[in-house]
Amino acid sequence: MTTASHGQQVGQYFNDQTEPFYLEYWDSEDIHFGLFEPGEDENQLKQTLKRMTHAVISPTNIQPDSLVVDAGCGVGGPALDLARIYGCKVVGLTISQHQIELAQAKTATAELQTQVQFEYADCSIHLPFPDNSVDVVFSMEAACHFSDRAQFIRETYRILKPGGYFAFNDWLAQDNISASDYQTFIQPICDNWVMVSLETRSSYSQLIQAAGLEIVEFVDFGEAMLENAQALKRSYLTFLLQESTGHQFPPEMALWKKQLKSLYDAWLNRYFTVERCLARKNA
Ligand SMILES: C[S@@+](CC[C@H](N)C(=O)[O-])C[C@H]1O[C@@H](n2cnc3c(N)ncnc32)[C@H](O)[C@@H]1O
Repeated sequence: MTTASHGQQVGQYFNDQTEPFYLEYWDSEDIHFGLFEPGEDENQLKQTLKRMTHAVISPTNIQPDSLVVDAGCGVGGPALDLARIYGCKVVGLTISQHQIELAQAKTATAELQTQVQFEYADCSIHLPFPDNSVDVVFSMEAACHFSDRAQFIRETYRILKPGGYFAFNDWLAQDNISASDYQTFIQPICDNWVMVSLETRSSYSQLIQAAGLEIVEFVDFGEAMLENAQALKRSYLTFLLQESTGHQFPPEMALWKKQLKSLYDAWLNRYFTVERCLARKNA
């Protein structure tokens, strides 16, 4: 499959699934996982999602005159938070036209149109900014969907100003995973969530360094993330229970169930992880 055709498939997936699944069953604006503190569960999901956004962006030293590109911006929850908290300008990029409409509506409600904009782009191909023009490239759990991450990171390097930061979190396979464990635990995630492959921390590090960026830190959130997997498992078991008592779900729910199961299986067995990375273009 070519990069462009994979992008079209991902765009269609997010056009179709953003409202009925992500916004309905996870959160109305943040489509990523939470950073939980001891004792928190999905009842405190909102604050854990905001904590994750903060954890990824806060080491970048954003200023009110900074330009931030949010690569794979969803419906704009993180982009709007950055604009509100730091007063910066944010341009969100997504491959889903429907997400752009939803994000623009949220931006209008928040009266942040002068600070926050959204554009269509396939980040596996091109980031629509001039060389050396952006202070921070930020991305939350999106690059796992990009079919050409090497190209995305080369483009990130190209558009960053000298001294600019690349700050992201992403879905990873555990380092040193065997080929057979990858096939058993990670490939089903890729198949169910429209991804070509997942990086490991080592393979990501190679791509980042090959593009010319210097890695400042790569952080595994450890046990704080496992509550996400437990929440997915509880959600899956609730669907099964409701089905067993005769509740009729729409046929599309079959995909959501496969997605939940493949993800919590790999996560709870420690073959899957979500980590954050901070990298920098030399000044
Ligand atoms: C799991 S969502 C994360 C959304 C957002 N970062 C957040 O945290 O709320 C993944 C996002 O990546 C976007 N995406 C996937 N592949 C893309 C590509 N090739 N180019 C641009 N955006 C892409 C999707 O449209 C979606 O907005």
